[in-house]
Amino acid sequence: QTRKKLVAGNWKMNGSFDSNEALILGFLPEVDDLVDVSVFCPFPYLAQVAKLLQEQGVAHGAQDVSSKASGAYTGEVSVDMLKEFEVTQVLVGHSERRQYHAETSVAVAEKAVAALAAGITPIVCVGETLAEREAGQVEAVIASQLDPVVEHCAKFVENGAWNLVIAYEPVWAIGTGVTASPDQAQEVHAMIRNRLQAMLGTEVAQSTRILYGGSVKPGNASEIFSKVDIDGGLIGGAALSSDDFSGIIRAAR
Ligand code: G3H
Repeated sequence: QTRKKLVAGNWKMNGSFDSNEALILGFLPEVDDLVDVSVFCPFPYLAQVAKLLQEQGVAHGAQDVSSKASGAYTGEVSVDMLKEFEVTQVLVGHSERRQYHAETSVAVAEKAVAALAAGITPIVCVGETLAEREAGQVEAVIASQLDPVVEHCAKFVENGAWNLVIAYEPVWAIGTGVTASPDQAQEVHAMIRNRLQAMLGTEVAQSTRILYGGSVKPGNASEIFSKVDIDGGLIGGAALSSDDFSGIIRAAR
């Protein structure tokens, strides 16, 4: 099974009309059919980004979505609203959402369900903190984050609409300049794939892309991406520089 690599840029709460345009125009020449590329911008820029990326072969999406369809949920954004901006992918359960907005793994699973039901690919983020790693709890933490997602979303395997990406982001590697070593990352990716296999079967496990995120830069990307269960990256800081993002896209070829 060959899984096409995906390089996803999470802009987090950064950007402006001017800087977004310069960033996108800066990395577009690097985009080709060999690597999938997507960017996740703040909600107010979805229209601008959709326009800039029209027919450029780059997907775009939001950094979060509501699990609810509509109603009295002040500040929330629904999947149908995202679809009006041609969104095809959405991040769910980023560690910053879990940490600062108290998102539980069940809430994350419900968001993934809402996305899949709307035909949007959820990129479900999982990852342990440093304290959890040091306490030998990596597998237990990943399982506690992953299993509710798998259980809630299994019905989409049955109807052929499973289209979900997982991003492994060790919290201690996010924005810190410290990456997991390629072997450390591979170990967790293999564990995630084994878990998918046990719960959903070989075909789903082998076709599901698992991205690594956490201080990926042009200089370390190729070694990380060379690992057998690492299918690309979810890039934070380096996605804000068109040179760095271009270098990471090249490393994924
Ligand atoms: O979503 C992206 C990750 O949180 C990684 O961020 O590349 O700045 O470490 P970073």
